[in-house]
Amino acid sequence: MEKTKPAKNTQLGYIGKAQLSYFSTLLLPEAAQAVDREEPITALGIVEEGVACGALAGYVSDGCFQIISFYVAPDYRRRGGGSLMLHRLEEFLSENSSIRAMEISFTTAHQDNEALLPFLNTLGFLPENDRGRNIYSFTLEELNESLALRTPARSPARIKPFSQLSEDVLRAAQKRGSTLDAPLPEQTLLGSDLELELSHALIIDGTVKAYAAVDHSCCGALTLCGLWIEESHAVALYTLLKTVITRAQELYPPTTRLALQVVNDASLRLLQGLVPNAKKISFTYRRTFHK
Ligand SMILES: CC(C)(COP(=O)(O)OP(=O)(O)OC[C@H]1O[C@@H](n2cnc3c(N)ncnc32)[C@H](O)[C@@H]1OP(=O)(O)O)[C@@H](O)C(=O)NCCC(=O)NCCS
Repeated sequence: MEKTKPAKNTQLGYIGKAQLSYFSTLLLPEAAQAVDREEPITALGIVEEGVACGALAGYVSDGCFQIISFYVAPDYRRRGGGSLMLHRLEEFLSENSSIRAMEISFTTAHQDNEALLPFLNTLGFLPENDRGRNIYSFTLEELNESLALRTPARSPARIKPFSQLSEDVLRAAQKRGSTLDAPLPEQTLLGSDLELELSHALIIDGTVKAYAAVDHSCCGALTLCGLWIEESHAVALYTLLKTVITRAQELYPPTTRLALQVVNDASLRLLQGLVPNAKKISFTYRRTFHK
């Protein structure tokens, strides 16, 4: 790993239960809880002139050190603190011959996280090939430009918001979706966090034949968290999406961010057709050790 400038006046040490109170705001909650419960997690912290200003934590899984929390406080950045923690971590890991790499996964949905990309590039980490499976982000106005060209402006009466569907209909759709292995929202189609006015379903003979479920699960953006259409009704897909977008435009300003998780080739093609310039926001970077 190439060394960047050394951090001056910076001390580095391991964080255990006794040190946790100084570093807890610099660690993600799951990492702080793991240190507090004395689980097998490795946590490092930096202190500059008596102020705890950075922390890193992770654990070994399958021969790879997974970094689950990594943060330097804004006023202390670009002074070598982040590099110092990673260099120390690598020294520590190199004592164990079974550990072959370290890895970090993160989203750039929050502006704060964007510094991680150039930082990791500098430190010799390489992005994992995701084959297009990623979370993509775009705005309502970007999406509408492409949808406007493809679909009639009006949606058929058979497309209804979840707010107008009974629990029984949604429960049956959830059951069917699970049986067919369809992409379902994590919290189910009856989840309380779904946007009931934005989530829509195509109903034929009282049965859900397609749905587009929306929540805020990805970093607060309007998230298309479940999209499924029965093959024989595939032609209704764009009308369904158009209905969701039109309703979103009534409720939210054009600059509102949306997120879509691409889980298979079909959803990748859909995304590329809808918003060719959508940005990937989820990354895994890895640094392999050459021992
Ligand atoms: C990424 C982060 C840890 C870097 O910490 P840092 O102490 O500022 O990093 P360093 O000073 O060691 O930077 C080393 C090199 O990385 C690169 N780098 C770091 N931040 C950069 C930025 N914002 N833009 C461009 N390059 C950057 C530079 O090459 C830098 O060397 P230089 O300052 O001599 O040019 C810090 O910005 C941070 O905590 N960001 C938020 C991270 C986050 O969101 N964590 C949550 C998910 S786990």
